[in-house]
Amino acid sequence: MKIVGTPREARKIIAGFREAGESIGFVPTMGDLHQGHLSLVNMALEKCDRAVVSIFVNPKQFGPKEDYGRYPRNEEKDHAILEKIGCDLLFVPTVKDLYSTSDRTRISVRNISEHLCGLSRSGHFDGVVLVVSKLFNIIAPDMAFFGQKDAQQAVVIQRMSADLNFPIRIFLGPIVRDENGLALSSRNRYLDISEKKRAASLYKSLSEAFNMLTMGERNPDKICKRTKSIIENAGLEVEYVEIVNGKTMEAVDEVSGTIMIAVAAKLGGVRLIDNIAARIENDLVEEVLLEFPEWSGYE
Ligand code: PAJ
Repeated sequence: MKIVGTPREARKIIAGFREAGESIGFVPTMGDLHQGHLSLVNMALEKCDRAVVSIFVNPKQFGPKEDYGRYPRNEEKDHAILEKIGCDLLFVPTVKDLYSTSDRTRISVRNISEHLCGLSRSGHFDGVVLVVSKLFNIIAPDMAFFGQKDAQQAVVIQRMSADLNFPIRIFLGPIVRDENGLALSSRNRYLDISEKKRAASLYKSLSEAFNMLTMGERNPDKICKRTKSIIENAGLEVEYVEIVNGKTMEAVDEVSGTIMIAVAAKLGGVRLIDNIAARIENDLVEEVLLEFPEWSGYE
């Protein structure tokens, strides 16, 4: 595996892959890699000739009161894991490598960014799409892989990519969970063992919501109320529980078509998110990954 820091070095290696006629799959990350990240790298390796991973803790997507300074950084371990799994190129730029002090360009994906996590994390998705568009331009992959764990992020990125005509296909990977159902996340490092068990209430609440759907419940308020009470009973502070349209991320009045039940809650100052997406057709309720039918940027 080659490890490079500057866009110039990354482009040079990518050019070599291209000359050999190889396809490129890309997985952007902020490091402290776990099985959730690695499942995406494995998808890239399966679908493409070369897998490229970036590790960059992007300051522009953290709010002033958020955890940018203490976000877990674990470079050596990450490098070893990626080497072992068969990653071809690791791109690890510094803040200076990606942002010049005089940059003026901003990108905003309107509407979709403003719901759910966008409400409490103002400017967060602007920071995400800015860095992802820069990375897309540097790596210029054929395919990019994102986790359903951050479903709203993936939908916002897909919209940005299509709107700006990036010729990149976006794929989603399923949420990887621990044995108690807690979705893996670098931020789980902030939790001790007993907190992790309580945090698994997020998944329990989503499973219960999904059960209610399979039993025929279609009233979003009733489902959200029950979901919220399960999380609160475990002692977490709920930020939101919402059933949203799988494309627009807007709250739905009626549960049908492709929807997502999304939750965010805090446990001892640590913010956790989780979701389940489902397709509902009459009596049939099926767990699904969100889909991106609009390929305008790709085509
Ligand atoms: P990060 O939190 O490191 O996540 C990188 C990718 O891994 C994202 O696509 C995320 O959805 C996915 N992921 C994280 N936990 C997962 C899990 N338990 N199961 C499946 N996939 C999981 O998301 C970011 O970094 C950044 O915002 C980034 C896109 C890199 C832009 O800075």
